[in-house]
Amino acid sequence: MENTKEREELIEKDKRVVWHPYTQMRTAKDPLAIKHAKGAVLYDYDGSEYIDAVSSWWVNIHGHGKEEIAKAVYEQMLNLEHIIFAGFTHHPAVTLAEELLKILPSNQGRIFYSDNGSTAVEIGIKMAKQYYFNQGIKKTVLVAFENGFHGETFGAMSASGEHKFNLAFRDQLFEVKRIPVPVEDKLQESLNALNEIIESEEAYAFIFEPLIQGAGGMVMYPPEHLDALIKRCQENGILCIADEVMTGFGRTAENFASNHLKEQADIICMAKGLTGGTIPLSVTSCTEQIYEAFLSEDKYKTFFHGHSYTANPTGCAAALASLKILNSAECKADLLRISKKHHAYLTRLKESNKVKNVRQTGTIIAIEFETGTATGYFNDLRDKLYEFFLSKGAILRPLGNVIYIMPPYCITDNQLDVIYSMIDEAIEVFSPVKA
Ligand SMILES: Cc1ncc(COP(=O)(O)O)c(C=O)c1O
Repeated sequence: MENTKEREELIEKDKRVVWHPYTQMRTAKDPLAIKHAKGAVLYDYDGSEYIDAVSSWWVNIHGHGKEEIAKAVYEQMLNLEHIIFAGFTHHPAVTLAEELLKILPSNQGRIFYSDNGSTAVEIGIKMAKQYYFNQGIKKTVLVAFENGFHGETFGAMSASGEHKFNLAFRDQLFEVKRIPVPVEDKLQESLNALNEIIESEEAYAFIFEPLIQGAGGMVMYPPEHLDALIKRCQENGILCIADEVMTGFGRTAENFASNHLKEQADIICMAKGLTGGTIPLSVTSCTEQIYEAFLSEDKYKTFFHGHSYTANPTGCAAALASLKILNSAECKADLLRISKKHHAYLTRLKESNKVKNVRQTGTIIAIEFETGTATGYFNDLRDKLYEFFLSKGAILRPLGNVIYIMPPYCITDNQLDVIYSMIDEAIEVFSPVKA
């Protein structure tokens, strides 16, 4: 009773003062008020449980209420909660940079900090552009995949595909040349488009989500195809920016999607899982060669970019604690366990012939529903599916007609089985049998 009253008051106040992200506030249902969370489960005020099958917008890799991270944050807070990072340094930032460089591809040499995925991407694009500017070379074209998603700021929106949610800003975005995503038999088409750009334009960088386009609908493509594109770019003086904001920190069952590649990007953007989903922090890493192009007696060759919370010590301490868990044998075993279990489910779904497509990379599995006519983020099925899963006790946020599971690595086999059965039921209820 007490809890119900508390929840009602909270929601009432929320509706008066809060504006939620990606939410049409006029038509949206009341938000779900979560009181606490542990492991892969969220608890609301009525005691109802929800399995967090999307890791709270893809950030929470080790589950909620992780004591090792909480302790590291608490101790860091008491010792040094924050300090300007221009002209100052501190132990957590230096140690985290060292630890990241140990697990990043070996061509990476420097760590630049910021505080979310979009800014990590902005920084990557700015680094690449200024790398050439500092050498007196004028290059003006950014290359990206069609249908990509790189974030919410203007540079990141420009680099993203032409999504409908960016309609209002389209005339203010800078021009980006887009090439097809090299899925299955599309590599040649993608290479041809890239070749055309190389011949006619001065491209400074190619930005991509390695192996999986997340918000664009969990579109997956083979590492060899990306290798071919990276090679072609680097042979032609185009810097490669891997946006690992979603794929980083174990999502593909390796630390980074880049670990599946033979060719390596020059710049890598990371965020989301970096702190285990606790404190906003992001990183853009680059090669020593890029860094060196900014070293000069000429002050205007400086990288003039920094945020108030750059390298926040508390965030760095959380990231160090999270990396320690990620590097543990237990966590590695979990990545393998989830990947294998997803694979078995994928095989079963493929045999059943009831969905349009099912695909998997590491801990991410995506199931594309047959919709008949409408597709895309805004089709009705999305809302119906979202409500269906909530009513059953799981948070799954479909991307249009694509349902995906991107769980915290602590999710149990039993919890995964519960999610699979919910999806089976949704297939029966919502998806017409594949033609
Ligand atoms: C690949 C990719 N890049 C960048 C971003 C933006 O990250 P943030 O939401 O932390 O700004 C996202 C967010 O979903 C993403 O998936």
